[in-house]
Amino acid sequence: MSKMQEFQLTSEEIEKYNIRAPRYTSYPTVPNWNKDDFTPTDYLKFLEEIKEINDPLSLYIHIPFCARRCLFCACNTIITSRPERSSNYLSYLKKEILAVSNILADNRKVMQLHLGGGTPTHFTPEELDDLFSFISDKFQFENNAEKSIEVHPTVTNNRHIDVLSDYNFNRISMGVQDFTKVVQEKLNRYQTYEETIELINSARSNGFEGVNVDLIYGLPYQTFEGFMSTIDQIFNLKPDRIAMYSYAHFPQIYRHHKGIPLDVIPSGENKLDIFLAARQKLLDNSYKQVGFDHFSVEGDELWTSFQNQTLRRNFMGYSTKAGLDLVAFGWSGISELRNSYAQNSKNMEEYQLLIDKFGVATIKGHKMTKEDIIRKEIIMNILCQIEVDFTKIEKKMDVSLDYLKIEANKRLTELEKEGFVINHDNKLSLTQKGQIFARIVASVFDEYLSNEHKFSTVV
Ligand SMILES: C[S@@+](CC[C@H](N)C(=O)[O-])C[C@H]1O[C@@H](n2cnc3c(N)ncnc32)[C@H](O)[C@@H]1O
Ligand code: SF4
Repeated sequence: MSKMQEFQLTSEEIEKYNIRAPRYTSYPTVPNWNKDDFTPTDYLKFLEEIKEINDPLSLYIHIPFCARRCLFCACNTIITSRPERSSNYLSYLKKEILAVSNILADNRKVMQLHLGGGTPTHFTPEELDDLFSFISDKFQFENNAEKSIEVHPTVTNNRHIDVLSDYNFNRISMGVQDFTKVVQEKLNRYQTYEETIELINSARSNGFEGVNVDLIYGLPYQTFEGFMSTIDQIFNLKPDRIAMYSYAHFPQIYRHHKGIPLDVIPSGENKLDIFLAARQKLLDNSYKQVGFDHFSVEGDELWTSFQNQTLRRNFMGYSTKAGLDLVAFGWSGISELRNSYAQNSKNMEEYQLLIDKFGVATIKGHKMTKEDIIRKEIIMNILCQIEVDFTKIEKKMDVSLDYLKIEANKRLTELEKEGFVINHDNKLSLTQKGQIFARIVASVFDEYLSNEHKFSTVV
């Protein structure tokens, strides 16, 4: 019996449910923000308002540069080989860190630091050293702070690892996507298994306790066999966490996606077939599914926080550091503070002009309404706990959710009939099939969802 039969998914159902839906790294999603909520001055004022709160912080630093463009990429990147671009950018990051730390650093310690990109190790080891020394001087870190970084193995060397280790980085996240040679060649991404394992070994012997690996299923030119053999190779790397992302194709946003012929992208049915087989392989090899696209080993904090219902989701994806205020630095960075979102400019010239003028480069944001907060809680429960206990939320937020249940009733009844959810005792529980399509279940409670916005397909 094929995996799709086991999940009682027919071709018609896959076509019906493989629709576009947000990945909900925020709610409301970025296109629905009330953009005027934050100017740089508003953001600075807002930081002043929250500076006395004694909770620890999570910091995110975006380093957008990459030496070459992987043709599948949907990240906020700038392709460059000019070293002065990095050094100039570093000087702006430091100005921004200084402005924010002047307000927040007296009262608020850092519990989590994450460097994302782009490719943060596009910075030279000396530039990283400079950045870490600066940030360690400006902010106080908790002793057990999680420090993590995204790397591409081919541009990361042992000197990078040494610097990261000097600053007690403990989690490394490695992009792999697919080891199949022809897929890599066609997509302008070159990375051997040998390079990858060598870097992972070097990180582990330098004190990194956590190793994440990113994979993408449904990539252009990907085959079922090729991805299965990638998964077999991944087992040898023994990552404690694996992100298995669904390929997001956005030719209307990324010019480089336009050049990918549609007939080399696996169909929805083939994509789901690849995902279900890979998922089963991971489960058979002691990995646990966390949320809809992550896997971890059993003792891992990601798995325990999923089980004890403290897992959260933000712009970095699934996070074990529940509810921390997230302050982002850098071009395009998105902060999530209290019940607000704020985003930096995505135009490098504007980013630098604003930093020179204000110390921060916020150009838009959103202050959540009470309704947003309620719906976000439900949506995040669906994606992070695979269950919503309405009674619990009603008590916690002191509201009645009857109006929402009435609004959602028609779609939930349909999803229940088709085996995605079970409605019981004022709770909504997702079945295994529902977990895979969790984004669709979540979208039932999205007040802003409209066809105008472009999201990726759910499988
Ligand atoms: C910033 S990159 C990771 C670090 C490094 N730049 C690299 O590629 O190895 C973050 C991850 O986003 C995922 N990603 C990029 N483009 C994607 C797409 N079109 N669809 C789904 N996932 C994508 C990849 O798994 C990638 O590893
Ligand atoms: S290296 Fe990573 S961020 Fe850079 S283009 Fe490739 S996938 Fe995108």
